Amino acid sequence: MQNPSIQVKGLQKSYKKLQVLKGVDFEVEKGSIFALLGSNGAGKTTIVRILSTLFKPDSGTASINSFDVVSDPENVRQSISLTGQFAAVDEVLTGRENLIMMAKLRHLKQPRQVADELLERFGLADAADRRASTYSGGMRRRLDIAMSLIGKPQIIFLDEPTTGLDPEARIEVWKVVKELADSGTTVFLTTQYLEEAEQLADQIAILHEGRVIASGTLQELKKLFPPAKVEYVEKQPSLEEIFLTIINKKEEKLG
Ligand SMILES: Nc1ncnc2c1ncn2[C@@H]1O[C@H](COP(=O)(O)OP(=O)(O)OP(=O)(O)O)[C@@H](O)[C@H]1O
Ligand SMILES: [Mg+2]
Repeated sequence: MQNPSIQVKGLQKSYKKLQVLKGVDFEVEKGSIFALLGSNGAGKTTIVRILSTLFKPDSGTASINSFDVVSDPENVRQSISLTGQFAAVDEVLTGRENLIMMAKLRHLKQPRQVADELLERFGLADAADRRASTYSGGMRRRLDIAMSLIGKPQIIFLDEPTTGLDPEARIEVWKVVKELADSGTTVFLTTQYLEEAEQLADQIAILHEGRVIASGTLQELKKLFPPAKVEYVEKQPSLEEIFLTIINKKEEKLG
């Protein structure tokens, strides 16, 4: 790889007796979109937490912009922005106030102007002065991503950015993600939606039973499977509906 933003080698992590990561390897090229695919509990969020310095790995190495996540967490944090699986929006504040607060935290000179631009860009201008607690899931998600863009991080982590969003809101988020990558930001996203990875990712890695079992471009991955199998998967749309329903219920309970 010419210019890796993220390098991960032999990453292992256990929670007590549960070994979640058993030796994970991958690299992400600067300015590209990388999608980590895996089912519930595969360890996607665990990887995001390690890369964003919230957790330490048991063994193996990970670096961001050549800074080691364990020995150089300060420099890693300067390079990244994290949007977690569950929104970090303050419910009591309005959309505008959330953005202004974040811009102030990042010591930007014109927080109000930064907020206005992002509200416009994310289609939240009309709802700007309503409390975030009155926002729909999709609006909250967009606000969350908008907040993570403040300060123009070089690498952005999006943990399941579109889970629970309706198709329209999902396409809006995709558009934003593509624009980010076009402007040179490296995007690391996790998803359970194959279509999302297909639409967005330059590189895809499939995490299964603690390891990356396949990785490459969509074209490369397609070559691994005979066409008949792809057809079989595509004929099962109801599975996604069931899955979405379950995920939505989970989010409702938590939110
Ligand atoms: N803090 C923790 N303590 C104990 N076990 C944990 C902890 N965090 C995660 N786990 C377990 O580790 C496994 C991997 O969790 P992780 O959240 O990384 O998966 P994920 O791929 O992000 O799943 P999802 O798609 O549901 O978000 C799961 O079995 C989970 O129950
Ligand atoms: Mg997760």
